[in-house]
Amino acid sequence: MQLKNSLFLLTALTAGSAVARMHGHERRHAHHHLQHEEKRAVGDIVYANFNGVWKSWINEFSGVTSTTSASGSTPTTASSGTSVVTVSAVPTASSGPTVTTPGSCKEWHAFQDGDNYTREGFGNKTMNNGEKYIKYIGNVGDPYGSNIIEVSESKACEYKHVIRIDGSEKETWTIAFWNKMGPDLKLTGWYGNAVLTLKINPGESKYVAFDDDSQGAWGAAKGDSLPKDQYGGYACTWGEFDFGNTSNEGWSGWDVSAIQAQMAGLDVQGMRICTHDNQKCSAISNLAKLVENAYTALEAGVDGIGGEWTAGALRLVVNIDYE
Ligand SMILES: *[C@@H]1O[C@H](CO)[C@@H](O)[C@H](O)[C@H]1NC(C)=O
Ligand SMILES: *[C@@H]1O[C@H](CO)[C@@H](O)[C@H](O)[C@H]1NC(C)=O
Ligand SMILES: *[C@@H]1O[C@H](CO)[C@@H](O)[C@H](O)[C@H]1NC(C)=O
Repeated sequence: MQLKNSLFLLTALTAGSAVARMHGHERRHAHHHLQHEEKRAVGDIVYANFNGVWKSWINEFSGVTSTTSASGSTPTTASSGTSVVTVSAVPTASSGPTVTTPGSCKEWHAFQDGDNYTREGFGNKTMNNGEKYIKYIGNVGDPYGSNIIEVSESKACEYKHVIRIDGSEKETWTIAFWNKMGPDLKLTGWYGNAVLTLKINPGESKYVAFDDDSQGAWGAAKGDSLPKDQYGGYACTWGEFDFGNTSNEGWSGWDVSAIQAQMAGLDVQGMRICTHDNQKCSAISNLAKLVENAYTALEAGVDGIGGEWTAGALRLVVNIDYE
């Protein structure tokens, strides 16, 4: 049985650039549509915020039963057959596609003349499905996951959408990247389906490039793997991305979200994502002491948080273990 959660998805993977460019009508009706279009199956976990208090329940066909408060206690499992977990192997320094050919960059964030960006190392692009919001499927790469690749510093500037991840000052962290849509093209990307996993040592920086029309998130945590919730979902602070959305005139968006970590009752890791020139930022500090233009459980369902960027090249700096 597939678990899903409408509100998480709302904030998470439908926010960002899309929202910034959506025209008034679409925007006003976005949540309305979701409520009606997103069919809930038996066993799905449903969350809602009633007067500031989070409630969660297992959807049991038409009715709503066994309401519990989401803070403190995690929702109970519907049945023993609910698991969607896939156990991923302990990551090596980099598990996933890596481009190692020599590059031409003097500065990793430089822009290319004539918007001429390389796709070296990416697989084929998959066509988007023309749907909206939660149902939007962009480019997930063919073979699956080949839309997100590690590149070297000297190669980074040759790609259109690229991030630099700056490590913690103290410990080795793991950062893993996944597509919003899993290999089954359903909302299963974050259930253990990372397509690229990197270890970042103290003081180290790594670079990752994203093909056009890629939507998903990365999660980062101290140690060798990402924490998961009881359903096998990555339960740490996420950096959510929407790079060069074809159905949104090529706009990009990003935000930091602690929703999954908080809903699982786990620690919130600090993360900050800014354009390389610090024009736009989204940030949450360790244990969510500071929240800037980012999602915590309180902002779940709110549109328009995070950064957005017009069509064209985008360079983001990601600080993990952000204090
Ligand atoms: C784009 O860049 C590639 C590699 O640097 C180069 O071979 C090609 O001629 C460029 N194309 C245009 C239209 O500038
Ligand atoms: C991309 O598609 C072309 C044409 O179908 C095919 O020849 C090529 O092998 C594909 N590349 C990858 C990486 O799958
Ligand atoms: C991409 O654009 C489509 C069309 O505007 C939008 O519905 C979708 O939410 C956008 N982003 C994501 C992450 O799907």
